[in-house]
Amino acid sequence: MLALVLDFQYRRLDYLDVPEPTEPVPGEVLLEIIEVGVCGTDRDLAKFRFGQPPAGQNHLILGHEALARVKSVGPLVNTCKAGDLVVPRVRHSCRPSCSSCSAGRSDLCLTNNYQERGITGLDGFFRPLAVDEAANLQAIPSELADVAVLVEPMSVVEKAYELALRLHVSGEVRRVAVIGAGTIGLLTAMLARLKGHDVTIVSREAADSPRAQLIQELGCSYQVNFSDLSADVIIEAVGSNAAACSAISCLAPLGVLVVLGAPDGSGEIPFLRMIVGNQVVAGSVNAAPHHFALAVKDLSALDRNLLNRLIERRSFAEAKETIISGSGESIKLVHRLD
Ligand code: BGC
Ligand code: ZN
Repeated sequence: MLALVLDFQYRRLDYLDVPEPTEPVPGEVLLEIIEVGVCGTDRDLAKFRFGQPPAGQNHLILGHEALARVKSVGPLVNTCKAGDLVVPRVRHSCRPSCSSCSAGRSDLCLTNNYQERGITGLDGFFRPLAVDEAANLQAIPSELADVAVLVEPMSVVEKAYELALRLHVSGEVRRVAVIGAGTIGLLTAMLARLKGHDVTIVSREAADSPRAQLIQELGCSYQVNFSDLSADVIIEAVGSNAAACSAISCLAPLGVLVVLGAPDGSGEIPFLRMIVGNQVVAGSVNAAPHHFALAVKDLSALDRNLLNRLIERRSFAEAKETIISGSGESIKLVHRLD
């Protein structure tokens, strides 16, 4: 079967004929991959900025945002059955497990020796068939099928938002700012609106662009810079160091900034302002099983038309090109494998 792989020996991205997975052993499930979303992590991987193939292999099968259908289950699996829809969780525990990983929170791994499907140490889902442990699968109701490929990115948003609300000392959060209008930014804005918060998106879209139009329809206000911005919670979802640094100065007293994308900022950190304002800057990555469950619940409650407007579907044959060239005007490019 054909897989989309990163070849670490020749440093290139290409389709490769790989063996079909063997029958699932006890606790495992054989999955038919339906579709796989592409994100900035895949583009960074294709530039060999990070990532690692499985031990003893030169290539890594890409793809970590997958929607799959259970094809068959191995012995002792009673949590799903053939035909069920599932989303695999990306991160697997470090071995031997640290205390976070053994408590089911590999998203809070203490050793950094975790593995991630399609990212580091474990093959991903850009292929027609894959095997996973039943314990790593989030069940998906069939009526959510059209947007379930968003469950993995939404799980990242759920974790970041939960962290922001927990870190806000008084819990009185009303004004939320989201930096960036990509998939993570727009999903964050939608979640914040669902919680009844006022949302401003800071992003460089032209005022007459389809994305700016979508932002308005989400009930969010929109600005291209940080002027006059003051927020109780700010989520950075654009990967810009400068934007993350500017955001610190826009925190209201007790404000919390959660950084999801900026790799390393440099500049002045207004410590005194942070001290006298009791402010917090935090990082967040990946998600726990309960965030995947929350993602399913909240995606089910959101406006389905608006969610569908985030997604643009292409063939598997086009996946190499979209990872290399970027997504253009599209928000979430999703490749169909069936
Ligand atoms: C994925 C996360 C992952 C992170 C870092 C993101 O694109 O959605 O699950 O932990 O990359 O590798
Ligand atoms: Zn991703």
